Amino acid sequence: MSNTQDPQIDWKSLHFGYSDTDANVRCYYKDGKWGDIQVETSTTIEIHMAASCLHYGQEIFEGLKAFRGRDGKIRVFRLEENARRIADSAKGLLMAPVPEELFIEMVKKVVKLNERFVPPYESGASLYIRPLEIGISPRVGVAPASEYLFVIMAMPVGPYFKEGIKPTKVCITREFDRVAPKGTGRWKVGGNYAASLGAGEMAHSKGYSAMLYLDPKEKKYLDECGPANFFAIKDGKYITPASDSILPSITNKSLMQLARDMGMEVEARHIPVEELATVQEAAAVGTAAVASPISEIDDLDNGTKYVILKDGKIGPVVMSLYNKLRAIQYGDEEDVHGWVTVIE
Ligand code: PLP
Ligand code: COI
Repeated sequence: MSNTQDPQIDWKSLHFGYSDTDANVRCYYKDGKWGDIQVETSTTIEIHMAASCLHYGQEIFEGLKAFRGRDGKIRVFRLEENARRIADSAKGLLMAPVPEELFIEMVKKVVKLNERFVPPYESGASLYIRPLEIGISPRVGVAPASEYLFVIMAMPVGPYFKEGIKPTKVCITREFDRVAPKGTGRWKVGGNYAASLGAGEMAHSKGYSAMLYLDPKEKKYLDECGPANFFAIKDGKYITPASDSILPSITNKSLMQLARDMGMEVEARHIPVEELATVQEAAAVGTAAVASPISEIDDLDNGTKYVILKDGKIGPVVMSLYNKLRAIQYGDEEDVHGWVTVIE
């Protein structure tokens, strides 16, 4: 199966999007157990028209990345954390959780099978790995499926925001919520993203890279920034929202650790919108977004403009956290926390 041919990709101009690669891996859950791992070259799946994922949204996913180092080795970042999170999401939607060892084995396999699509070190691009689990039993009454499909695809990607690491503006409005206060926001559920499309399009149409959501209960505190967590640097402290309605970002968790390693204090707490007037730096953080600096946050409901980067230049703390994270991911710096898995 493994094809060694150069895929002839202009790695440096890659953006964040889907492209075909050599293979995907699949596993079915039936009669109470997971079956054997299957390798597929087809990009389609055949499912029943009444499948629970189609009618009642039993669908969860993950996102993680593999990086090619200067030494040629391929490293996957924090795959155990993603394995745990998808199992959590599964429990949230009454789906069969994928065992951690199966998740890890399948990630390793899909990367190996698509090795020639892992971008070269110099390009700064990476291989995006997208695990997906869906309920496939026919259901017309609202009920969880008894059969599931778990599939992992992988493709080379560049930066999520088209501006790359350049600072962008984001906006706030109380007109949209991404999720409900005690809803599915803490899990990586497709429906959360469907619910965010309207707000995202509205933000893009006004020239913003994303919507910075407020907590859906009181609309007083910062929640999440599009498909990413949010953090700010305030008087040398790393501050990030604590909320039941946001996805626990693995990248954010990693940056919090790196900030502590750099001697910074870290606060995960409610952040009132008005506190934005007192921060020196801000960023959207996630696997796809990495740490994308934010230059300005505009509250569309009352016209307040929080100008974060007065000269438009990336702030020093966001820049050094970004560099530190990338150095660990690409294997340029020692992996003291045991975050990377080298694919043999
Ligand atoms: N929040 C949302 C809504 C996301 O979609 C993502 C992306 O995965 C994140 C946060 C960041 O999470 P992570 O750093 O684990 O990729
Ligand atoms: C990721 O960062 O992996 C995500 O899943 C964001 C995505 C929805 C584009």
